[in-house]
Amino acid sequence: MKKDIKTRFEERYATGNTPWDTGRADSNLKKIIEEHKITGKRALDIGCGTGDNAIFLAQSGFQVTGTEIVDLARQKACSKASKAGVECEFLLKNIIENPLDEVPFDFVFDRGCFHASDSGELREKFVKAVAAHLKAGSFWLSLIGNADEKREGNGPPQLTASEIVTAVEPLFEIILLKSGHFDSDMEPPPRSWILLARKRG
Ligand SMILES: C[S@@+](CC[C@H](N)C(=O)[O-])C[C@H]1O[C@@H](n2cnc3c(N)ncnc32)[C@H](O)[C@@H]1O
Repeated sequence: MKKDIKTRFEERYATGNTPWDTGRADSNLKKIIEEHKITGKRALDIGCGTGDNAIFLAQSGFQVTGTEIVDLARQKACSKASKAGVECEFLLKNIIENPLDEVPFDFVFDRGCFHASDSGELREKFVKAVAAHLKAGSFWLSLIGNADEKREGNGPPQLTASEIVTAVEPLFEIILLKSGHFDSDMEPPPRSWILLARKRG
């Protein structure tokens, strides 16, 4: 039987099998924030891992909440933020199942979390949760494994452009859906989709 997602990620953090954890914020996040002049007070990083992107957002002026389902990752994120002298809130919480009380946010980011939703139903649920945490007219940036890459060996889960659009478009205006690469120590770096979407309404 397939293990649940929490157990799978717990095992990966416990054994250090975390190739996505580069120790730095993804350059796609930095670039999109700058190019699209994304600002605001509160940012949410869903599936924040060990916190590098959340810390970057805090250093960029956001008040940041990161959520995780793996406590080891959350603890590492707290320790990195403290070392960086940055204040971030890191919560052990699956907000797809149990939304946060203190909403809305001005910006939602996820890198490698939405793409783990491996059915249309789960993707729809994830998108609804993002929308529920976001102000109307505000942005969600998601970095997603790209199914156009035929990869040998391990790599991130992958979605097609149409799977993304089907799930996202009912609640979000798609501003950008562009093929790119994850910032990665893997060679070659895995292909990604860079999705920037604005909440309707
Ligand atoms: C591929 S890793 C990426 C981690 C981090 N975003 C980064 O870029 O380094 C995906 C992360 O999402 C977390 N995760 C998966 N589903 C989640 C959920 N529903 N809520 C919060 N975290 C989740 C996993 O534990 C894992 O840390």
